[in-house]
Amino acid sequence: MSTSNFITANDFYGKKVLVRADLNVPIQNGVVQDISRVKNLKETISFLRKGHAKIILMSHLGKTNQKNDEQSLRLVINALSKEYKCNVVFIDDCLSQNADEIINKSSFDDLILLENLRFYKEEEMCDTVFAGKLAHLADFYINEAFSVSHRKHASVYEVPKFLPHALGLAFVKEISIIDYFLNNAKSPKMSIVGGAKLSTKVKLLKNLVKKVDKLALGGGIAGAFLAFQGNTILSISAQKEFEKDVIEIIGNAKEYGCELIFPEDFCALISEDKENSIITSDDVNASIFDIGPKSVEIFIKHIRESSTVLWNGPVGLFEKPPFDYGTRMIGEEIGRLTREGKLMSIVGGGDTAHAMNKFNIAKDLTYQSTSGGAFLTYLECSKLPGMSSMKDALILKE
Ligand code: 3PG
Ligand code: MG
Repeated sequence: MSTSNFITANDFYGKKVLVRADLNVPIQNGVVQDISRVKNLKETISFLRKGHAKIILMSHLGKTNQKNDEQSLRLVINALSKEYKCNVVFIDDCLSQNADEIINKSSFDDLILLENLRFYKEEEMCDTVFAGKLAHLADFYINEAFSVSHRKHASVYEVPKFLPHALGLAFVKEISIIDYFLNNAKSPKMSIVGGAKLSTKVKLLKNLVKKVDKLALGGGIAGAFLAFQGNTILSISAQKEFEKDVIEIIGNAKEYGCELIFPEDFCALISEDKENSIITSDDVNASIFDIGPKSVEIFIKHIRESSTVLWNGPVGLFEKPPFDYGTRMIGEEIGRLTREGKLMSIVGGGDTAHAMNKFNIAKDLTYQSTSGGAFLTYLECSKLPGMSSMKDALILKE
């Protein structure tokens, strides 16, 4: 191996490399619905293939702590095999005596896949003995699962302690782009934060307000802020437990020169049976599900004035037309400006990514993260448990 802190593909010749992937993909009736996370491994897999390494993939799938067919990673074999044009060797029990033997016998052209790590309760317990057994299967560890690195789980946090290790190429790209946005991106930079619940975004808003020039709020989060400002359009009442946080965020926005942008009209459901149930609400009894057309115009004006936009959280209930309007219009404008080279755009979070894929906007964005919770956590505090245990990480040099 190299003596520097870089490691090249050639250094991996003949080595067994355990890659923590995130193959937690949506599955319906046994069929994988979105292969973005399978594709996310592309760069690291080609790097290791170039070096003629034996690749062992491990991941979780869903939330469980016992073996079951519906959450078996067997369901992802086809997608992997198709994407990487190879045979996938599946290891049903990574702790069994013959796991080692199967790995040793497999070809360097195969991809080896371990069964769902969450079938072992030790994974979420961050058990060191379990991690040691996983590590025993390989010579090197790569974390290519940014999206699960906010979890202090054995495969993420403990395994790197047993093996020489590196962050995957997509992992490094993801943190570089978030770091760039937070610390170096050209002004004016804007963030759009939506989502249903203020509680999940308080920390994020506290950090962003110190880093961006414009912060636009949508979704239930905007409603929560407006309620504190005495807005009477909304039927939402101020959530007392967040009063201090909201005051702090508004105070910091002033101090750090961040312009807060709120929706000024809303789309609401008046009654299920009305044919055209969408209105610009001035009805206190209506249930609000999207921002209104005037707000979309306001958001778009600010997006046009910005050089960089980072977006987390849809501004409305985009799954249910006509409440997809706000999210779709804002997304389309961000996509168009990016395509024309006028904007750098970063979109992250499970729901936002889902919306961008649904509206066919993802292809136009500068960067779309496949992460939810980890994207949020990294934006909040620029660190993740999965990185803190990789202090001696080597750097994959392409
Ligand atoms: C995700 O889908 O957000 C990651 O795979 C993490 O999954 P988890 O939320 O079940 O830990
Ligand atoms: Mg999640």
